[in-house]
Amino acid sequence: MTDTAALRQEALSAIEASATSPALEEQRVAWLGKKGKLTEVLKTLGQASPEERKTLGAALNQIKSEIETAIDTKKNALFVAELNARLASEKIDVTLPAQHIPAGRIHPVTQVIEEITAIFAELGFSVCEGPDIEDDNHNFTALNIPENHPARAMHDTFYLKGSEGKTLLRTHTSPVQIRAMRNSKPPFRCIAPGNTYRCDSDITHTPMFHQVEGFVIDKNIHMGHLKGCLIEFLKAFFEIDDVPVRFRPSFFPFTEPSAEVDIGCSRSREEIKIGAGDDWLEILGCGMVHPNVLKNCGIDPNEWQGFAFGMGVERLAMLKYGIPDLRTFFDADVRWLKHYGFETFNIPSLLTGL
Ligand code: DAH
Repeated sequence: MTDTAALRQEALSAIEASATSPALEEQRVAWLGKKGKLTEVLKTLGQASPEERKTLGAALNQIKSEIETAIDTKKNALFVAELNARLASEKIDVTLPAQHIPAGRIHPVTQVIEEITAIFAELGFSVCEGPDIEDDNHNFTALNIPENHPARAMHDTFYLKGSEGKTLLRTHTSPVQIRAMRNSKPPFRCIAPGNTYRCDSDITHTPMFHQVEGFVIDKNIHMGHLKGCLIEFLKAFFEIDDVPVRFRPSFFPFTEPSAEVDIGCSRSREEIKIGAGDDWLEILGCGMVHPNVLKNCGIDPNEWQGFAFGMGVERLAMLKYGIPDLRTFFDADVRWLKHYGFETFNIPSLLTGL
């Protein structure tokens, strides 16, 4: 007769001794599988006497369910143990420096803003900032662009919904002049790099672009200071000592007199070459700050004067680095960035070179 107690003991100890899930599965097959030891014993029940069959059957069924429970319990315990072991072995220290990841590149817009900032820092300018979302007063009225002035129409302004034309995305960085002059007292020597927005999109315009504004307010400032400052800037930026520069009379409501600055270049079908040739390329707008603008900021124009200028960052980047298409700046294409971008440690400075 089968020794059910020994069978039970043997099965339960073997199950308990299983160290891994595959080993446990082997035990399940060894006891409960088609040819398993318990299954084999159950098959012999048919040959037992009816009396014996009754007690033996009940005992074997009891053992079967005990084995099943033991397997389930062990299965869960092994699952937890194996998961913990795996988590421990695959632990990563997320604070370690990344490996095998290609280094990112600095976007030409960022690089050029850094270059411009480095040059003006050397000339004693500090950096001012203002918000991208502006109000009508800072963006237009205080800059001597009253309501119904045709200059407003030229700015293709994005107005914020529901603001009844009072809140907008700044169309230029000039409103930073107003903020700086209203928040503090002259003298000023500031540049203001930042995002600007116009509802315009074609090969040479994108709805968002970047400008750098600059302004100097002090006593006895005249057009000579403006010219000297901008010529020095252009020489340093294009890294050409004798870059030809031309100041051409122009109009901006916030400056009087106003000028546009052109630099000498040569144009061929394939490229524009800065600093040589007999052609001119418009590069920035400037002028002497209009007395009305000073008055609008509570500054007495009889005591203080100044000059201001504004330039487009993408345009300067395209010219300096030979980038042919404006719209590619905003494609977020890593191949483009790999080609035109800058190394992260290549921080522009006048000492180490731009
Ligand atoms: N705000 C002008 C624009 O976006 C650029 C500009 C021109 C700025 C002349 C100035 C300036 O400060 O004096 O077109």
